[in-house]
Amino acid sequence: MKRRQFLSTALLGASGLLSSCGGGDDTGTPLPDGTLPEGAPLRALDVLPNESAVAGEFRATLTAAPGPASVVSGRTTDLFLYNGMSPGPQIDLREGQHVRIRLDNQLSDDTTIHWHGLPVPPDQDGNPMDPVAAGTSRLYEYELPTGSAGTYWYHPHPHDKTATQVIRGLAAPLIVRANDDPLAHLPEVTLFITGLRLDSASAISPDDAVDWNVGRQREVLMVNGGRMPVHTVTPGTSQRWRIVNATAARHFRLALDGHTLTLVGTDGGLLEAPIANLPEILVGPAQRVEVVVNVNSTPGASFVLRALKFEADFLGQGSYADESLLTLATSTAPAVAPSPLPATLRALPDLGDPSAQQRVVLSAVQGMCTRNGSTIAFLINGEIFDPARVDLVTTVGRVELWEIVNNTGMAHPFHIHGTQFQLVSRKISNVVTPAPYLAWIDTVVVPSHQTATIKVQQLQPGKRMFHCHILEHEDACMMAILEVRPA
Ligand code: C2O
Ligand code: CU
Ligand code: CU
Repeated sequence: MKRRQFLSTALLGASGLLSSCGGGDDTGTPLPDGTLPEGAPLRALDVLPNESAVAGEFRATLTAAPGPASVVSGRTTDLFLYNGMSPGPQIDLREGQHVRIRLDNQLSDDTTIHWHGLPVPPDQDGNPMDPVAAGTSRLYEYELPTGSAGTYWYHPHPHDKTATQVIRGLAAPLIVRANDDPLAHLPEVTLFITGLRLDSASAISPDDAVDWNVGRQREVLMVNGGRMPVHTVTPGTSQRWRIVNATAARHFRLALDGHTLTLVGTDGGLLEAPIANLPEILVGPAQRVEVVVNVNSTPGASFVLRALKFEADFLGQGSYADESLLTLATSTAPAVAPSPLPATLRALPDLGDPSAQQRVVLSAVQGMCTRNGSTIAFLINGEIFDPARVDLVTTVGRVELWEIVNNTGMAHPFHIHGTQFQLVSRKISNVVTPAPYLAWIDTVVVPSHQTATIKVQQLQPGKRMFHCHILEHEDACMMAILEVRPA
């Protein structure tokens, strides 16, 4: 099935959508290509207003509720929205801030908010063990330490229902800013990438057995709620792009026609120094990158940002083609000179010598964990997720080497809550390759039959989730609990 046949759409959410006629066949069959117009101007996401008058405090409410959106003209698509929007509002925070955000759950099911990648206390992290029941609310409260500046996102994490809620629209970016940001002089955009798959009735098509096996695919890719939006800039400009992969299961090899990319940051913020001239950058599910784009100096030109094919085949059950995400267009204004980047961005200390080791083996079996209709179950250390069990134990402050061994036929984006970690090396058929640069990440892509070794340290006691960030895998058992004991 060709991915490009799927519905394309403009802008999601209560703020209204552009659309043209619908049409399709059976429920579950995608609408034909071109059903909706592409190419509206790139929309900047709304920013969540700070309701606090107290210096150093951020206070707001996020209401999760079902809501209608006009995705296909003349029809209504029911989505799940944060404050009436999908993607939800961007949360802009600063290092050192005290954050109090109330979740008001107006869904008909449990939900939580997980602050993906942030070092928040375990009981504030929206774990599946701490559900917020339908019709109730709770306050999430945490401080943002110095050094936490970076690009994050927030999404629900209820037991068994994360995929269901995220694919219906509950996800949004969260930016933490530093007071001494060396790139603060650059114009900045957030590109929040989500997937959309509608059935012929213009409803979000639920995950099917293939999705539960290999993750949700066959989606239209959306950027800030729009299909193939056009981002118009003055030729020659240098821009900082914060890119978030908020899809359930897609890996992107991002490439921009006519440009190379300069990588300046990863999940947990800036690198030590910019890495220039990259033809492409891999961004797995849940991962973020910050890139600087020195826009081509030709006026009136356009260039496509692409998600190049990552793997041809997932266990014979799905395939990704090259896809387009966004058009970068240069205006007809005279070109400006690119902004030089600082040679160094920030100090990024190595976590130091590990004093313990953990081993995580990812495996696939038939016939377990099939309640959602999947036939294959992916397990961590041979077990199905059990919220009442502790799978691994560590102590506060201990630096550990984690070896993540993927014995399955597909890639898994491996994520640990509550901290950022560092990739040490990768192993492919016994050949070990050290990580090319030091970076803070909270999710590492572990391709089929490879091993990734990471260095991890947890700084707060309590229970932390670790799991595959293909949301269907996370829901269907590929999740476990790390207990962090006081030192
Ligand atoms: Cu975005 Cu448990 O993760
Ligand atoms: Cu997380
Ligand atoms: Cu997985």
